[in-house]
Amino acid sequence: MSAFEADVKSSELKRVLGKWSLTAIGIGAIIGGGIFVLTGTGAYYHAGPALALSFVIAGIACVFAALCYSEFASILPVEGSAYAYAYGTVGEIFAWIIGWGLILEYAMGSMTVAVSWSGYFNKLLKMFGLHLPDYLTSDPASYTGEGFSMNLPAFFIVLFVISILIKGTKEAAKANNMIVIMKVSAVLFVIIAGVFFINTDNWSPFIPAPEMVKEGDTLKEAYGVQGIISGAAAIFFAYVGFDAVSTQAGEAINPKKDVPFAIIVSLLTCTLLYILVSLVLTGMMHYTDFNPQGKFPDAIKAPVAYAFEIAGQGWAGYIITIAATLGLISVLMVMIMGQSRIFLGMSKDGLIPKMFSDIHPVRKTPAKSLMLLGILIATIAAFTPISKLADMTSFGTLFAFTMVCVAVWILRKKEPNLPRNFRVPALPVIATLGILINVYLIWNLSHDAKLLSTGWLLLGVVIYFLYSIKNSKLHKKGLGETFKSEQEPLEDVDIDIDNKD
Ligand code: ALA
Repeated sequence: MSAFEADVKSSELKRVLGKWSLTAIGIGAIIGGGIFVLTGTGAYYHAGPALALSFVIAGIACVFAALCYSEFASILPVEGSAYAYAYGTVGEIFAWIIGWGLILEYAMGSMTVAVSWSGYFNKLLKMFGLHLPDYLTSDPASYTGEGFSMNLPAFFIVLFVISILIKGTKEAAKANNMIVIMKVSAVLFVIIAGVFFINTDNWSPFIPAPEMVKEGDTLKEAYGVQGIISGAAAIFFAYVGFDAVSTQAGEAINPKKDVPFAIIVSLLTCTLLYILVSLVLTGMMHYTDFNPQGKFPDAIKAPVAYAFEIAGQGWAGYIITIAATLGLISVLMVMIMGQSRIFLGMSKDGLIPKMFSDIHPVRKTPAKSLMLLGILIATIAAFTPISKLADMTSFGTLFAFTMVCVAVWILRKKEPNLPRNFRVPALPVIATLGILINVYLIWNLSHDAKLLSTGWLLLGVVIYFLYSIKNSKLHKKGLGETFKSEQEPLEDVDIDIDNKD
């Protein structure tokens, strides 16, 4: 792993993140709009009250991947996440495809989150009697009026987040910590307050018999065991983000120990919270009441807030809206930060232009890369109907998870004696299950998402052969050299500095 160690040594980023800040980064990225929005869809179109089991399945898929990410993070404490892990094991072109796929997770995820944030922000304004005109809250394709339109809140929130990120990682982590405390409190509030309004009859039957349900103009099969599994794919977006911890390894004080800790703790915390929220929700409202053609047509759009409204506790809607509005800011922050660190890794390897690895001399952040990303993400979020493509974020994430499960196994075979602070127990079983379950979830994503994402990956291959291969540092040194440890040995680096968190 000598070249990675060289990366660690040459990293100009500041090591400021301790284990709890890293855990907060994980939770900051995971809990967002997903849990407050997708639960209605998951319950009505897929699993019924067994939605809690869909959350268990998606959680397990993530745990398998999280264990594999953790083993890698304990060996390679560098920024770049799955991209960097693949680079050191399966070779440059695979790493490139993974890095290219990660753009779907991080950059596209950020656009989707910016648009959802705008939705929550407008709702919040309305609660306080304020109203932004439609032409300032809709992208041109979704706008029904005449003339100019843009999603102004989505545009500005991205620029706001970028300004915090450029300032410094420590400042961003502080803001993130505060938001995380608040949003976890809000989720706990939903669970604790909701328990008082549960009608256990709503849970029976817990796994409804398979039935055809109309979604838009098409009839599709829902419920039963298949419904639980398709539900897991439908709500998967709610879990997207925990792997963002691994993009921050370059800024962790003690990455080999704390990144695995943070990945696992943040994921388990959110899984538990999600299972409880889904149980409470389907206990408060009968799953069929989320039918958009039924007696509560709007319930599916904001299921958690709606359940409280129906229980006569409309004020809870305020708390949920405020939590989601603030909570999404931290998702956005971690996602954009993650994307910039992945680009940093790819740029250091010469696969994308050098400006993506320029570090601001004072702030110690990749300021140029963040600015460019900010302008792109803000503009696309403001002017395109991006929210329709949210499933592509899940595709990019599941794709990376699958590849990490493959890569960790290859590395065990290739370098069995490499020191590992964390080892996946029963790796062949965990990695195989991880691969199978993630591929299965990809299969269950919407047809459009699969088609567009595959097109995106193919575009990546074209760019690799037109640009990256010619500029790659590995190729400049000599073709075929895929495994970094084959390069010139460097003295061992361990960065176990006292954890001050
Ligand atoms: N998991 C994040 C959310 O639900 C992306 O918003």
